[in-house]
Amino acid sequence: MAEKLIIFDTTLRDGEQSPGASMTRDEKLRIARQLERLKVDVIEAGFAASSQGDFEAVKAIADAIKDSTVCSLSRANDRDISKAAEALKGANSARIHTFIATSALHMEKKLRMTPDQVFEQAVQSVRFAKNLVGDIEFSPEDGFRSDMDFLCRILEAVIREGATTINVPDTVGYAIPELYGDFIKTLRTRIPNSDKAIWSVHCHNDLGMAVANSLAGIKIGGARQIECTINGLGERAGNCALEEVVMAIKTRSDYFGLTVGIDTQQILAASRMVSQTTGFVVQPNKAVVGANAFAHASGIHQDGVLKARDTYEIMRAQDIGWSNNKIVLGKLSGRNAFKQRLQELGVDLQSEAEINGAFAKFKELADRKSDIFDEDILALVSEESHSNDKDTFNFVSLSQRSETGERPHASIVFNVNGTEVHSESDGNGPVDASLKAIEKHVQSGAEMVLYSVNAISGSTESQGEVTVRLQNSGRIVNGVGSDPDIVVASAKAYLSALNKIRSQAERVMAQG
Ligand code: KIV
Ligand code: ZN
Repeated sequence: MAEKLIIFDTTLRDGEQSPGASMTRDEKLRIARQLERLKVDVIEAGFAASSQGDFEAVKAIADAIKDSTVCSLSRANDRDISKAAEALKGANSARIHTFIATSALHMEKKLRMTPDQVFEQAVQSVRFAKNLVGDIEFSPEDGFRSDMDFLCRILEAVIREGATTINVPDTVGYAIPELYGDFIKTLRTRIPNSDKAIWSVHCHNDLGMAVANSLAGIKIGGARQIECTINGLGERAGNCALEEVVMAIKTRSDYFGLTVGIDTQQILAASRMVSQTTGFVVQPNKAVVGANAFAHASGIHQDGVLKARDTYEIMRAQDIGWSNNKIVLGKLSGRNAFKQRLQELGVDLQSEAEINGAFAKFKELADRKSDIFDEDILALVSEESHSNDKDTFNFVSLSQRSETGERPHASIVFNVNGTEVHSESDGNGPVDASLKAIEKHVQSGAEMVLYSVNAISGSTESQGEVTVRLQNSGRIVNGVGSDPDIVVASAKAYLSALNKIRSQAERVMAQG
């Protein structure tokens, strides 16, 4: 029987550290449920000690998830570890993942600690954690740039204290596949008790090699856990992409000789959910989940695929969750058909009130747009889950005037803490005028660092999905909005970003 590779998803922790990708507790819970449907082995739900919000998100996920192990990150100190254990109390299967930097550069410049102090702290932390939870993962941060002798010494000691998984991060994405594979192989060969732990890879994508490095860590190094995120979400250039490593292991099982427990048909739904929740758009030519991944544009390729699929396709689109029949619902579709489609898409709205809210939005949309695609339904549900009762700003209505040779003008109505306000402005274009009208009233002072529009289902009849990234007092947030009218979608995205600025509390980040 082929050996199993453990898939450890860190979208909700390392992925969320990407500036602008922060998610609310409810958004995280929704994604965690999708990760459970995807059958990932371990969900790293957050970093419980970093903020009250993170603590609550980890706790909610630990209480709700039954089939995957739920993990919390924690620095190597008793306070962080106790917080992680407390948040994980309700989990069926819990893991504490504790880390401390081990490279000379990080120890000296960031931690201002000697190697012996780092050694002591790592050992004591694993000992302390082991008394609270049986399943302990230890990561030497910046491991790949650490001194081999020191790493062997510290890893041998933490395994002796009961660490069950040893994760070797390439924190800054510096590795090259062969070197990273050999690095793990050397560690496993030199550390006498290395067989008492499962070895794990954790690669960042700064040089575009996170997936290749992770696969080398498996093939050459003999690691049996991969840490990854949906769509490769993560700080800077991101983390290793789950969809890519999983499909590589499956498609080339002849080479890797390993199995994964992932239900690959849930990959696309997970990708869309993460993209729509965070506002990080998936590029069209992205492997596995990009819109072009299975589109055979050239005539030669189309002809080949029609004659025999495997002339140009190495994976089946259906296996990743791409459905052939994309037009699903319309104006006459009833609540039951809507509810069933939600289930088929793996969207699990918790209460009747949530289903009713989403159905009302669906009816509104169906009045304006004849064909409702899966993407529309997912956008609508995502918007429904973004908004919550605590939101300060809510969109009501908008009118705008633009004409060749005239300066565009927008007039917008929105709610501020339940009170309707009206504001108007000119702008360079209708979108600019609308956002200026909002800003004129709110006066957030936030700087816009990104504005992007994407046609949800490809044509001009489609809904526009807009992402607005704002920076304010050193914090970055993304707002997402969708509507068939892209000016309205832009206003919704801007208001959603303002809501996030209001609600985002300070928190501690891993990795400096
Ligand atoms: O990249 C990294 O070093 C990490 C650790 C906290 C595991 O994410
Ligand atoms: Zn990382």
